[in-house]
Formats: sequence, C-alpha cells, structure tokens
Amino acid sequence: MLLVTNDVDEALLLADRIAVLDRGPAARIARIFDVNIDRPRDRTAMSSDLAFTALRTEIVNYLSSLEVGGAEQAVVADVPHVEEIESTEAAGSAIALPGIEPIDLRPPMAYREAAETRTDRRFLEFSGLTKVYPTADGPLTVVDGIDLHLNKGEFVSLIGHSGCGKSTVLTMTAGLNPITSGWAALDGHYVDSAGPDKAVVFQAPSLFPWLTARDNVALGVERVYPKATSGERRDIIEYYLDRVGLSDSMDKRASDLSNGMKQRVGLARAFALSPKLLLLDEPFGMLDSLTRWDLQDVLVEVWNRTQVTTICVTHDVDEAILLADRVVMMTNGPNARIGQILDIDLARPRDRKSLLVDPRFYEYRETVLRFLAEADHDEKVAVS
Ligand SMILES: Nc1ncnc2c1ncn2[C@@H]1O[C@H](COP(=O)(O)OP(=O)(O)OP(=O)(O)O)[C@@H](O)[C@H]1O
Ligand SMILES: [Mg+2]
Repeated sequence: MLLVTNDVDEALLLADRIAVLDRGPAARIARIFDVNIDRPRDRTAMSSDLAFTALRTEIVNYLSSLEVGGAEQAVVADVPHVEEIESTEAAGSAIALPGIEPIDLRPPMAYREAAETRTDRRFLEFSGLTKVYPTADGPLTVVDGIDLHLNKGEFVSLIGHSGCGKSTVLTMTAGLNPITSGWAALDGHYVDSAGPDKAVVFQAPSLFPWLTARDNVALGVERVYPKATSGERRDIIEYYLDRVGLSDSMDKRASDLSNGMKQRVGLARAFALSPKLLLLDEPFGMLDSLTRWDLQDVLVEVWNRTQVTTICVTHDVDEAILLADRVVMMTNGPNARIGQILDIDLARPRDRKSLLVDPRFYEYRETVLRFLAEADHDEKVAVS
C-alpha cells in the first residue's frame, strides 16, 4: 500500500517505511525512515514507546530542517504603543428566545461588583454555558453547561471529537451565536454581541479577496484605534504583517496569496485589533504539516509578545500542548461538557524541538490521547 500523507503520526501508525520528499520544484525522495515498531500498533500505547518517540522526533526535526518557503524572515521590532479603544460593550440584558425560559443574561451582582475592580483573575468566565439547536427532530442540546474561568493572559486549547460542540462554544463566546442558557462574561461584561474586542480566526481564511493583505488588516484597525494618527495605524498594520512573515507581501491582493499566507494575514488582523480575547477555531487545520508548524511558531512568537487571552480549538494534540497553559477536553456530544482539564506545566517560551525531547510532553500527550480514545470507545458502546 502506498499512502500519501502530511501527518507524521498517521505515517508512523500505518507504515513500514516513510519516504520524505524534499521541497520542489524537482522534488526527490530525500530520506527513507524504517518504522520498526511492533504491530498491531495502538495510538495511545505508542505515545510512550521509546522507539516511537525517538523516530518521531527524528522525522519531525528532519522535516523542519527542509527549507520552508513562502514566508520571509521577520525582523524583530517593538510593538507600536497606541492606546486601544475601551470596550463599548454594555453589561448585557435579559433576552427572551422563543420556546425557552427568559433568563437574566447579566452575570450575578457579586460578579459584576468583583469585575469592577478589573482584576486579572476570571477575566473570561463561562457559567452553565449551554446551546440548544432547533432540529427537525426537536431541540438538540449540543453543549450542556460549560463552567470555566480563564485568567487574563491565559492560553487554553479546546480539544474534543468532531461534532462535540467546540465551534459552538467558540462562536457563542465571540458573540456570533446566541447563548441558550448560562452566560459568558469577558472583563466584567456579559457577552451578547460580536465586536473587535473578541477577534476570531476560522479554519477557512476569511479575507476580502480583492483587497491587499495590508488593507485587509487595516479594516479593523481603523475602527479600533480612532484616536491614532494614520502613521500610527500604518505602524501597527506593518508591525503585525511583519511578525507573521509577510513583510514583502503586504501589497499583494488576498486572492494572490497561498492558503498559508492567507491564514498569516488572518492572524495579523486578529492581533492588530489588540483584542481582549483571541478565539482561534482550528486556524491551521487546512494547512499541511510544515506550513502548520511554521504558523504555530508564528503564533507562539506573537502570543509571547502580546500575551492576549486565547482559546484555540484544535484537533491536533501536539498543537494543543505546544500552545496552551491548559488543555480543556470536551466529552462527545450531544450534551457535551468539559470532561477533563490538563495543566501544561512546561516553561515558556517553548519550541517544538525541545518539547520533543521532554518526557513531560509525552505524558501530556498520552493523557489527551487516552481521553480521546475513551470518549470514542464510550460512544461506540452507547451506539451498540
Ligand atoms: N446551526 C445549527 N443547527 C443545528 N445543529 C447544529 C448547528 N450548528 C451546529 N450544529 C450541530 O451541533 C453539533 C456541534 O457542532 P460544532 O460545529 O460546534 O462541533 P465541533 O466540535 O466544532 O466539530 P468539528 O470538530 O467537526 O469542527 C453538531 O452535531 C452539529 O451538527
Ligand atoms: Mg468546529
């Protein structure tokens, strides 16, 4: 069997040999790795197998060493100093949804009072966050009571099987999807509408194709920094495009950029808004491994500088661990909840190479993989 893949773990799970192509044009097989791991192979058990981890590290490092094109080397610069606009979000009000008990959407008084101190703790808070979608077979409770706090500057990865409701949690938090019951509050304000204080990057690039990279970033920036001069705004736009490695492509139209470059623009746009909260929904899911690693590095680098509070939905266990302070694992839907929360106690700044030789990384990896495998098993038992 000949399998073409850009997923190293998939290759290690299945193959006897892995042939790595170098970068085109005129690509050739650059190296062949023998996979001497006993069969049958089990994803979770393999994670703690020394032969597996050593080979995986070797292949990942080898792939990373193949030259990656498309992104120019970013130059280190300081973030321009401009005061961002204050959130104009109101504290929220009661909203009645058809067929559902009207609820007071405002956080409790004590919460609001505590929030007034502008403490950094509980910067983002979910309480009983629930989503019921109307379907042809009646109401479907997809997300059933998420309780979670994030301190300011925290990075949380949200992981779970396909369809469990990760995007639903994210879009509710962004104010793009009405909350059925419970509430989400950001910096003391109940979330009831979308706004530039909550920047979102989706899996599919969402740029205006006829505008340049620069103009796509500029769109939000003009709104967020009304008091800045045009020179200051330009500094912000160029700073972030530079950070994501697009300093030579700022004036290219979005339609002329590769998918990886488009996601770079999406990240630059999100960071340039100086959001209180950054919401990422599988931002690199459509990209091949090499581009994905490259963009993860970009994200880590920019995040280290800005420390913006972030929730990142991902299917990629390594990505979840590399990026996060905590990995939040969701149970399978319907009625999905938080199943387990894993604290990632790895020093920052982090880089992929040193993670791959850190035994704690593999312990974390195994914990998440085991959770996902058990959720999978529970679902099969429930169905049969
Ligand atoms: N507008 C909608 N109306 C009805 N059901 C919906 C709607 N949007 C999502 N759902 C259902 O809600 C569930 C959760 O969807 P969601 O997109 O949040 O999952 P997800 O965890 O992000 O999945 P994936 O990993 O595949 O992106 C799914 O069963 C989906 O079919
Ligand atoms: Mg999704």
